[in-house]
Amino acid sequence: MDRRDFLKMSLSLSAMAFLDDPNHWSVSRATAADSPVSPASPPYTNDALEPYISARTLEFHYGKHHQAYIDNTQKLIVGTEYAGLSLKEIIQKSSKNPEHAAIFNNAAQSFNHEFLWKSMKSGGGGEPKGRIGQAIEKSYGSHAQFQKEFSHAAMTQFGSGWAWLVQDGAVLKVIKTANADTPMTQGLTPILTLDVWEHAYYLDYQNRRADYVRAYLDHLINWSFAESNLTG
Ligand SMILES: [Fe+2]
Repeated sequence: MDRRDFLKMSLSLSAMAFLDDPNHWSVSRATAADSPVSPASPPYTNDALEPYISARTLEFHYGKHHQAYIDNTQKLIVGTEYAGLSLKEIIQKSSKNPEHAAIFNNAAQSFNHEFLWKSMKSGGGGEPKGRIGQAIEKSYGSHAQFQKEFSHAAMTQFGSGWAWLVQDGAVLKVIKTANADTPMTQGLTPILTLDVWEHAYYLDYQNRRADYVRAYLDHLINWSFAESNLTG
C-alpha cells in the first residue's frame, strides 16, 4: 500500500466512524448546507433534548423527515424558475402558484423544521426574561396566559400542523397552521414554533400530545432565539 492508498483508507475509516456515531448529523447534510435551500444543522446533538424529546425521535425527525423535505426541494427546483433562489424566496413564490404545491410544501417544511430546532434548547422553557419577557407581558398580560393560548393552539390543530408565536406589527400572537403552512406567507414574523405532526412526538408520547406541549413550554423553549426574532 503506497502513501496515497493509506490516506484514502484512513479517510474512509474516519467517514465510516462519523456515520456510525448516532450523535452526529449525516454527511449528506453537510453537502446540502452548500445549497440555498438547505438549513444549518440543529445547534445540538440527537440526545440534547432528552428526556423530553428522545435521541431516537430526533434521529428520525431530523435525519429522515426534515432531510427528506430538503432533498425533495432540491430535486423539485432543478431546471425551474426556483433554482438559485433562497429558501424564503422559494416559499413566497411557490405559495402564490397552486401548481407548484409540491415545491411549496417541501420548501416550507424545510424552513419550518429549521425554525423548530432553533426554537428549542436543552434547559429551556419556563418564564421569559428581558425584552421577550416584556413583549409577552405586553401582549398576553402574563406568561401563564401565553402558555394557555399556545397550548390551546397546539392542542386544537386538527391533524398535522404547527403552533406558532408570531409578531404582527407591535404585538405578539399565537396562531396555528395546517400541514406545511408557514406564517411568513401571511406577512407575519415567526418568533417560536412547535411541530404538532405526529412524527414529532409519537415515539415518545404516543397519543399524549398535551404532555409533549407541556414539556416544550416548561423545559424546551429557547427564549433567546425568540428574542432574536423580535423586530422593531
Ligand atoms: Fe416535523
